[in-house]
Amino acid sequence: MLKDEWKNIGRNELCPCGSGRKYKKCCMHKADHAPIDYKRYYKQKYDINLKTPEEIEKIREAGRLVIMGLDKAEAMIDPGVTTNDINEMVYTFAGEHGAVCAPFNYRGFPKSVCTSVNDVICHGIPDSYSLKEGDIINVDITYILNGYYADASKTFFVGQPSPEARHIVSVTAVSLQEAINMLKPGNTIGDIGWAIQNYAEGQGCTVVREFVGHGLGSSFHEPPQVPHFGKKGQGITLVPGMVFTVEPMINLGRPELFIAEDGWTAITRDRKLSAQFEQTFLITDDGYESLTPYDLGAFAEQGS
Ligand code: MF3
Ligand code: CO
Ligand code: CO
Repeated sequence: MLKDEWKNIGRNELCPCGSGRKYKKCCMHKADHAPIDYKRYYKQKYDINLKTPEEIEKIREAGRLVIMGLDKAEAMIDPGVTTNDINEMVYTFAGEHGAVCAPFNYRGFPKSVCTSVNDVICHGIPDSYSLKEGDIINVDITYILNGYYADASKTFFVGQPSPEARHIVSVTAVSLQEAINMLKPGNTIGDIGWAIQNYAEGQGCTVVREFVGHGLGSSFHEPPQVPHFGKKGQGITLVPGMVFTVEPMINLGRPELFIAEDGWTAITRDRKLSAQFEQTFLITDDGYESLTPYDLGAFAEQGS
């Protein structure tokens, strides 16, 4: 399927045919290799669950609901609205559609959605804070529908954005678009991180290292990890059936962060702005499909 894949197998590695035996004891000496059983091979080698068409459809359905939730969040964002108000909407909307909010009680997270304002990088906890003119806010929704997860986020402006706000939101949106351009079989996880880092740093911004994209399906976070920095050609090769998020967090200033007293809220050390966009992607035979699709173009054009 992917050319040259057989050349990279070590003699003591698991045989890609999925037999569960070492390569040297199995296909290495065979003139005609059995076809690679990627589902078994990726599970054995990386603990990655390649998804079946039935599983993909369930993630897609959860994804539709996540996108509707983000649309509702966008419609309500205004000065005076509290992050608790957004939490309430996300929770109520889930209930109306038979979905569950994955963040609630996840490792002790106390609310149903992450709302990350201005210098908050991610994992902001909704509270009584009222949005004010000029703020930026990332809303990150993960729903579980019929046992399957979908995860996506967008960063919104509250009222009129400052030039800095426009810049960081635009750079982050384009970073995710650059990553999307890498999503096809044969490219690697390193290509994704490289594309994001290359673009964001080229615009004078920095990439957060401490949080990564992740596989998901019947659990919230599973292999592979998807760093938003990296080197071309390095890391796991993308193959059809992989489902994972890409969710770059890009800072206007330095990349370092600290975690607030609440144990969750990640904040830039220099207190400058940070933005994030996230979608859940499927690798297909000839490219990708977003399972939480939305247009990044509008956010990309906000920049100056
Ligand atoms: N949705 C976040 C992600 O993109 C995870 C939030 S974990 C929580 O992976 F507990 F903070 F909700
Ligand atoms: Co995620
Ligand atoms: Co998320």
